[in-house]
Amino acid sequence: MRPFRDDDWCDVHAYASDPVVTQFLNFGPLSEDQSQALVRNLAASAQSPQASYSFAITTLADGALIGGCSLYRAGAPDGRAELLYLLNRQYWGCGYMPEAIRGLLNFGFLELDLHRIFGHCDPENTASARVMEKAGMAREGLLRQERWVKNQWSDVIVYAALAGDWNAAAL
Ligand SMILES: CC(C)(COP(=O)(O)OP(=O)(O)OC[C@H]1O[C@@H](n2cnc3c(N)ncnc32)[C@H](O)[C@@H]1OP(=O)(O)O)[C@@H](O)C(=O)NCCC(=O)NCCS
Repeated sequence: MRPFRDDDWCDVHAYASDPVVTQFLNFGPLSEDQSQALVRNLAASAQSPQASYSFAITTLADGALIGGCSLYRAGAPDGRAELLYLLNRQYWGCGYMPEAIRGLLNFGFLELDLHRIFGHCDPENTASARVMEKAGMAREGLLRQERWVKNQWSDVIVYAALAGDWNAAAL
């Protein structure tokens, strides 16, 4: 995992323009211009990362950029942060994202000293729920019609990890 660079936009566009990848997200599918703007923001945030920390996920074998994941603190400057992640569809089912999320949780708890890291997913997005389960997060409950996504209100399932649990689990 590494910071994004401006010249990553083609690789990001490969998944951010995919309607299947963005089905449950409150953005996308993105146009080329929108992918370029997104990557400019992700790259710029690496320079002043107080509000969010975003990482490109690359393969060890050849450095191919296959997805991204972020910790957002913008709405939660008090020790909480939200996870967001997406992966190029070609690479689904190989366990890449649970590995990336475990790395991000370690970073959040051990480097940023966060208290609570949470993720939301649509109940129909079973792949995303599995990722958070496999990464060791606890399912906390369901919020009804919590998000406006793709022109409709959607329920979300909340998953979270707490610093105390995470440290205890690591022993
Ligand atoms: C959610 C996502 C990141 C999963 O990443 P991943 O690296 O494929 O995760 P895993 O390999 O651990 O697979 C997780 C689950 O995805 C499902 N899955 C695997 N391959 C799949 C495929 N080809 N198509 C659809 N679902 C698949 C399985 O349910 C799997 O669970 P299992 O391991 O118990 O069988 C990926 O599906 C994705 O990018 N989805 C779109 C973006 C998104 O919804 N992000 C989350 C926003 S809340």
